[in-house]
Amino acid sequence: MKEIKDISDFIMQSQGFDISSYEDSFLKKTLHKRISESKSNSIEEYSTFLKQSSTEGNLLIASLQNNYSEFFRNALTFAVLERIVLPSLVQKKKKKEIRIWSAACAQGQEVYSIAILLEELRNGGNEKFNYRIFATDKCDAQINKARIGQYPSSALNNVNFKRAKKWFTKQKDTFTIKPELKENIDFSVFDLLDKKISSPSASIFGDFDIVICANLLFYFTPKKRRQILDKVSKTVSNSGYLITGEAEREILLYVDFKEIFPQSGIFQKKMDRACLC
Ligand SMILES: C[S@@+](CC[C@H](N)C(=O)[O-])C[C@H]1O[C@@H](n2cnc3c(N)ncnc32)[C@H](O)[C@@H]1O
Repeated sequence: MKEIKDISDFIMQSQGFDISSYEDSFLKKTLHKRISESKSNSIEEYSTFLKQSSTEGNLLIASLQNNYSEFFRNALTFAVLERIVLPSLVQKKKKKEIRIWSAACAQGQEVYSIAILLEELRNGGNEKFNYRIFATDKCDAQINKARIGQYPSSALNNVNFKRAKKWFTKQKDTFTIKPELKENIDFSVFDLLDKKISSPSASIFGDFDIVICANLLFYFTPKKRRQILDKVSKTVSNSGYLITGEAEREILLYVDFKEIFPQSGIFQKKMDRACLC
């Protein structure tokens, strides 16, 4: 559609942001929302308004960037992680470090949920093990929030009382992650669509036992999804796991990965090939 291309070219030139990476129906829905909120009567009128406004470009970009997250967001995924995947990794890795990459971590809920499961396993089991989680997001404001780890009580709906008491300090309505839960987490900014970098620099060589890339793929065009999947899947170790969001499982029905438990969104790399090309 000519008008969308026109808007996309303008946003690229003025803001250096590629809105054409976003999936067609999501992009159209977002544009309709902005057309309505800016009180424009048509896409042509909105395009003219966008070019004259000093703020509308930023508003459009912000509307495209969903950063909603939750602790223990998908109950089945986290149950399979807790009962099957993490205990078997602990057994398999013996004294070697367990390495995890949370590739679009938003404000940190996903990372801290995994860290809580690992700490519980470490404290409750006989096996001693080390782990490191590399938590990245494209948006530096999200990474800063994740590092701080402060949430309103409403964000803790999926966190049981015992976990809330052990891993958060409470002040009025604010719950803050305790420093000891952050000790094995390395936060950094990382753009999954940047072709020049393959894994977080702090991880040095990738080779992760688990990569979680959840609730992000469906916003992008099939070409960009493939680009992201090619990147992250190469960093998963042989027989390691790639985890997606509930609504993205279809995207990941990928030849070199197999879902280990129906509907869980947890896929295991098949061992017969070293990497995807
Ligand atoms: C909807 S949140 C999902 C957060 C978390 N993974 C979850 O499932 O709850 C999507 C996140 O993807 C991040 N994101 C968007 N584009 C990205 C990119 N190209 N590279 C890395 N992160 C990106 C956004 O900043 C946002 O924090």
